[in-house]
Amino acid sequence: MALRKIREMGEDCLRCTCKEVTELTPRILELIDDMVDTMYDADGVGLAAPQVGVRKRIAVIDVGEGPVVLINPEIIYTEGEQTGMEGCLSVPGKAGQVTRPMKVKVKTRNEAFEWVEIEGEELFARALVHEIEHLDGILYVDRVEGELQSTEEE
Ligand code: NI
Repeated sequence: MALRKIREMGEDCLRCTCKEVTELTPRILELIDDMVDTMYDADGVGLAAPQVGVRKRIAVIDVGEGPVVLINPEIIYTEGEQTGMEGCLSVPGKAGQVTRPMKVKVKTRNEAFEWVEIEGEELFARALVHEIEHLDGILYVDRVEGELQSTEEE
């Protein structure tokens, strides 16, 4: 298990447009393993490669049903709307209200580098959109409605 350092808002890597992954090398597989470990260690539901300083189109998500690996993901369909609180491991101690689609369909390569379609609803849909936006340098704070709130206990 190897943990990577989670980058925080203000660092350039969080604002970059990440590059497509062209092949699944041992280095990429190691990165994905480390991202999953780092996500669990930080109690997150998702983590994108730029959050550990790597400018590649890779993200991992676990909303409680096991890890899902996304490589070169694209949103191909959205439906409905949900408004709720959202946070990000790169913006520690904060949360804010964001409106996202209620359902999304994503075309992505999986951990075997095969193209698959993934459908998500509710929290999974929210996580898919949040993580995929990270790959284009977009943070949820760009979309927050009202004020960012502190989640730290006083
Ligand atoms: Ni995030």
